[in-house]
Amino acid sequence: MAIQLIVASPELRFHDFVREQLVRTPNAEIVSEHEDMGPNLPMRIAHDLNIYPQAGVLLDVSSDSEQGLRVLEQMRQSSPSMYAILSGAQLSEEFLLRAMRMGGSDFLQQPLKRAEFNDAMTRLEEHLQRMHRQGRQFGRMYTFLGVKGGMGTTTAAVNFAALCARENKSTVLVDLDMDSGDAACYLGLRHQYSLADVVDNLDQLDQAMLDGIVARDPLGFSVLCAPTEFERSQMIGEQHLREIGTFLIERHDVVIVDGSRALDPLLLGCLELSDSIFVVLTQEFPAVRNAQHYLGALARAGYGHEAVKLIVNRHDKRDNLHVSLPQLQQTLGGAPFWVLPNRYEEAMEAIHEARPVVTRGNTDLGRAYREFGKKFGVEGQVAAALQKK
Ligand SMILES: Nc1ncnc2c1ncn2[C@@H]1O[C@H](COP(=O)(O)OP(=O)(O)OP(=O)(O)O)[C@@H](O)[C@H]1O
Ligand SMILES: [Mg+2]
Repeated sequence: MAIQLIVASPELRFHDFVREQLVRTPNAEIVSEHEDMGPNLPMRIAHDLNIYPQAGVLLDVSSDSEQGLRVLEQMRQSSPSMYAILSGAQLSEEFLLRAMRMGGSDFLQQPLKRAEFNDAMTRLEEHLQRMHRQGRQFGRMYTFLGVKGGMGTTTAAVNFAALCARENKSTVLVDLDMDSGDAACYLGLRHQYSLADVVDNLDQLDQAMLDGIVARDPLGFSVLCAPTEFERSQMIGEQHLREIGTFLIERHDVVIVDGSRALDPLLLGCLELSDSIFVVLTQEFPAVRNAQHYLGALARAGYGHEAVKLIVNRHDKRDNLHVSLPQLQQTLGGAPFWVLPNRYEEAMEAIHEARPVVTRGNTDLGRAYREFGKKFGVEGQVAAALQKK
């Protein structure tokens, strides 16, 4: 997982050392630096943590350890889940105990040594992974990827978002398809702002700002739309997406990404944060061939069977023209996680009415999506109730 660090020290050499070490550490960066250790330091750090909730705080207490403890105490009050690393020369046992009681997470002796610093970063990363796994602090991210255009990726992402929202999970759908972001259109949502506006305001991003940028579906989930202007989508980078993804996971139960087709750095930044990656394909030959390439690329990037789940869309039992399910399984080295029936009319009617098919009582496709949702603890209870009527 990406390591982000907020560094506070009056010593330039301290900052230089940390910078030098982090440059050599993959996926690690300093997100904010403070040299002024004055009384409003806790407030400035709280502001940083609002933008980078996963960041660890490295606090140099060498010049005044008592003042350091006061800063720690105040930071802990405003950000109870903060991970704080205190660093000082000759930290006494008594000091360490008091710091631990106030919520210090780790300690670094000065002068700083490379190996000890790296060990502290490893502990920070392990802490983040633990938090992520326990799901205490972070929501879950699910990314949908189509192996080609037109596989049904947006339809799947939109319906999964609808199921999650119906279970009262705070849900945001992120449209990463910079070529033809369809999510808002499929939901009949007008939007003025997009992902590009989040990037433009990343420094001051907070929940209120996000609420002003997203479009809101009547089912209760938010949609962070893709930019409509090509030039603006070009300026969105991998690091932006990591930061935005982290921000969203921290504040929602579920983050759903309608992924672009190319396995580009933008998307890879998102996959790092994703609990599941749904690869959507149909049984057409070119789609199965592309799926083979995708699975290979994902495996090389470190994503194996646990995270990557195949969704076969538009399955038709009577179809002899396409790759059969057993053939598909043999070619791709594993069974599909889910198979959705070919129901073009149902899918199109849902688009025309700008309502996800899971909200339509008696449809095969809606039923299939609800069964899919059950695997993740979301079955869209309202929709199920409608169906019984
Ligand atoms: N299970 C299904 N059966 C039949 N048609 C479907 C099914 N799912 C989606 N479709 C239809 O397939 C078309 C493409 O769907 P969708 O836009 O969701 O795909 P996509 O992969 O996001 O496409 P794009 O590459 O344009 O982003 C739409 O017309 C949709 O209604
Ligand atoms: Mg799409």
